[in-house]
Amino acid sequence: MSVATPHRPMDLAVVTAREKEDVVVGNEIVRHNRASRLIHWTVAATFFLCLLTGMPIWTPVFGWMAHLFGGLSVCRVLHPWFGVVFFLASGALFFQWLLDMRLESNERDWLGPKAFQYMRYQTDDSDVGKYNGGQKLYFWAVSLGAIGLFLSGLLMWFPRAFPRVLMEFAYLLHDFTFICFAVSLVFHIYLGTAAEPGTFGSMTRGTVTRNWARLHHPRWYREVTGDKSRK
Ligand code: HEM
Repeated sequence: MSVATPHRPMDLAVVTAREKEDVVVGNEIVRHNRASRLIHWTVAATFFLCLLTGMPIWTPVFGWMAHLFGGLSVCRVLHPWFGVVFFLASGALFFQWLLDMRLESNERDWLGPKAFQYMRYQTDDSDVGKYNGGQKLYFWAVSLGAIGLFLSGLLMWFPRAFPRVLMEFAYLLHDFTFICFAVSLVFHIYLGTAAEPGTFGSMTRGTVTRNWARLHHPRWYREVTGDKSRK
């Protein structure tokens, strides 16, 4: 006689988050559907693969990283191909999130001191929509950076096809852009995990709690729930 394995009940929020977003399911709100999450994690994974294969090519200080992939010559082959996938995934990310990432006029001050005030929890803005100004700027910086890395990387892939002065510019651009990426990523990972508990779940389950949305993105909360009361 076979023993039936107990079924875990379907988690309605997770099931809904496969296709939909910006909808309320019980005490949760779907923030990122499956396609968005898949694209985001492809960008993240390929970025780290580029970093791990690129750093040993950049300087022998990081030569130990090459052993993860079977040596420096393997890294030289793999790195540009990881770069191509990173660029394609970044392009998909760009079109997936473009509509939500248009900067509004009152968000321009994120280019100034507001970003630092935000890091010190000194901002209190009840008009923050699905993304705040800092997240939007990060999105635009990542998109622009991906283009910079790709174009300069192409030149470095086929060095004999281009004039020397252009190659020197390509090396500078590639190095400058990846350093900016790596530094900004430290803040991005901090903000997406430890700094704001509940945010990471939006990129794994796809959902956030109502309280999280009301606290961090009050206008988005009002739009999605229809709740008109100001916080
Ligand atoms: C591996 C570590 C990473 C973690 C833990 C992480 C976490 C997250 C989380 C939780 C969100 C959603 C934020 C929200 O819904 O409010 C997000 C959004 C985003 N991620 Fe990542 N991410 C990582 C890597 C990356 C990488 C490597 C890139 C690009 C190179 C990237 C680009 C973005 C962008 C453009 C957004 C939307 C804007 C924003 O929320 O800041 N992420 N990430």
